[in-house]
Parts: sequence; structure tokens; C-alpha cells
Amino acid sequence: MTNFLSGYSIQKWLESCPQGYLEDTVYGHEKGQIEPEAMMDNETLREGQIRTTCNLVLGERAALAASSGLVNCAPDYLSKTFLATQTLDEARHVEVFTQRLYDLGVSPADLESTLNEFGNPNLIKFAEVLLEKVDKKDFIAGVVGQNIVLEGMAFSVFEMLHAGAKVDNHKFAHVLSGTIADERRHVGFGENRIGSLIKQHPEKKAEVEKMQADMTGHMLATFHSSFAAGAAANDEAKRQGDGEEAAVYHGVDLAKASTEEMEAVLSDTVLHEFKTRLGRIGLEYQSPAA
Ligand SMILES: [Fe+2]
Ligand SMILES: [Fe+2]
Repeated sequence: MTNFLSGYSIQKWLESCPQGYLEDTVYGHEKGQIEPEAMMDNETLREGQIRTTCNLVLGERAALAASSGLVNCAPDYLSKTFLATQTLDEARHVEVFTQRLYDLGVSPADLESTLNEFGNPNLIKFAEVLLEKVDKKDFIAGVVGQNIVLEGMAFSVFEMLHAGAKVDNHKFAHVLSGTIADERRHVGFGENRIGSLIKQHPEKKAEVEKMQADMTGHMLATFHSSFAAGAAANDEAKRQGDGEEAAVYHGVDLAKASTEEMEAVLSDTVLHEFKTRLGRIGLEYQSPAA
């Protein structure tokens, strides 16, 4: 395997991640940081945060299942090594977002029932398309589905949440900034590793593009139903945050935007990212079936 993957060694990972931006953190944030009181005291806002965080946990559980499954179908040791570090990153993401649910008042005994209650069924379908490829040990489809599609989506969702949290929740913003740094590394690996494999296996293109279209359809449905479900919490947050500084994400002030405007800017951003990243690895973005 060529050296371009040597930037993805465990040594590099140790230096940049646990000994770098995660040093001295506790569950991804500074010791002593807590969730804001104004949110914790407001049932609508607290429930909105629980709903969002449940879907982060479910997305990260899918990423953990996919990246650990891909370790055993990777064709070379540099890829296996990187995917082993990614597996630990994803397990950490599951842990920090689960911990956030506990911090938001969910009791550990109620974790699974809370995930069932607030989990978005479209997100489950999105994950199933990917995990089916991983179960078949299909490395090319698995890496495109995980490191380009799932993580491209996660990356943009985290950035949007970070733009909002930076203004009113420094604890959550800190947790997100660590996961964003991790996801950036994962997406980079996907592009670097898979481009050459797609060139060697042009016969795989149609199948991988079909998977991307299916996952994209479930993703857009996830955004649509999640923003609709979060409308009441968004209205409440706007009332509470009146006069707060702007939380700008791709030109949209999230502190003032409707959930429809938020959905539109997030969908546009993710689809633009998909087109760019897929183009770089020699695939053409496919629109989902209507
Ligand atoms: Fe993750
Ligand atoms: Fe990731």
C-alpha cells in the first residue's frame, strides 16, 4: 500500500487526538462544564435536546458498527489500522453523546426506551442500507457509505449544531468540536483510500451510486421529520434567546431561522458536499428516487 495512508497511523492518531485536542477533557468537554440552566429548567427545550442527542447516539452506533465491520474486510494493513482508530473514535462518540443524555436527565435504565421513543425511523433505514454492505464484506461500498455519505452528513449536522451551541451551550459546543475534528479525519481517509479502488473496480460504480442514492433519500427524510419534530423547541428557543448574538451557519442566522429554513440550508450544504467528495473519488452523485 502506498504511503499516503501513513498519515493515518496509530502514532499520528495518538499525537493529534488523545494527546492533542482531547487532552484533559472529560466526556469530550472541560471538567466542570454543565448544560445551561435555562434549557434544563424548560421542558420543551430539554426534550428538544434529548431528541437531537438520541439521534446523534443512533447515528454514532451505526458508525461504530460499520467502522468495526470494515476492519475485517479491509484489503491492507494501513486501512485496517486506520479503521481500528476510527472504531475507537466512533465508540467514544457513542459514549459522549450517551453521557449527554444522562446529563440531560435521562436515567441509564431508560436509555434504550428513550432512544426508541425519539429515534428517527428514517435514520434507522439510512443505517440499514450501509450495514447491509458491511455485512456482505463489501469494502468499497462500505467505505463510500460510511466515510463519505454517513460522515459527510454527520460532519454538516455537527457543524450546524456547533454554530448554535457556541452561543448558548459551551459544554455541548466543546463535545461537538472534538467529534468534528474526528469526522474530518474519517472523511479524509474515505477520499484518500477509495479513489484508487474505484479506478481499479469500475464495475462497482453503479451499485455504489445506487447505495448513495438510497442513503441520500433516507437522509433527506430524516432531516425533514427531525426538523418538523423539533419545531416547538425551536420556537421556544427563539423566544428565550431573543437578543442573543447571531448563530450563523452558511449565511443563515439559526437564532432567527424557521425549521424549514434550517432544513433547507442543511440539506443544500450536505448535498453540495456529497457532489464534491463523490466527484473527487470518480463517482457521480445520484439524486434519490422521489
Ligand atoms: Fe462519529
Ligand atoms: Fe466518524
